[in-house]
Amino acid sequence: MIGKKMQDALNDQITAEFYSAHLYLSMAAYFESIDLPGAAGWMRTQFQEEQVHAIKMVDYLIERDGRALIRGFDDPPTEWESVLDAFKAAYAHEQKVTALINGLVDVARAERDHAAEIFLQWFVNEQVEEEASVKAIIQQLKMVEGSGGGMFMIDRELGSRVFTPPASSAA
Ligand code: FEO
Repeated sequence: MIGKKMQDALNDQITAEFYSAHLYLSMAAYFESIDLPGAAGWMRTQFQEEQVHAIKMVDYLIERDGRALIRGFDDPPTEWESVLDAFKAAYAHEQKVTALINGLVDVARAERDHAAEIFLQWFVNEQVEEEASVKAIIQQLKMVEGSGGGMFMIDRELGSRVFTPPASSAA
């Protein structure tokens, strides 16, 4: 059975992952409102991924004979100054999530919960990918600032992203 400290920390992270999902769905709605359907689609995929992250943790607590808690959280923001501003906010948010995941690994180590430490490695790797993908979009957006044609191309490319459930969640 999972220890209380590890369980509490994972429950806090479940809340943080669901908040992330809502933040990105809010960004999707904002992008729709400024006629960027591709960026909106990209954020909808991000919304789905964040839900997968949360549910992975819910399932893990259940598997470890723990108690998963589904809790509420604050409203996410609804407006940003621009598409670049929103992606910069997404990047800052992912950096915070990375720090939270690292904190979870610290708890697993302090509690000598080797199983949880291994489970969390998936999230450590996922954060590297998440930060890198948002950073790459920010760089593209900076390159085309002020160019409607460039923005049109980026939006089209962002819209090609499709949600692929991770292998362990696909069954
Ligand atoms: Fe669940 Fe974007 O980290």
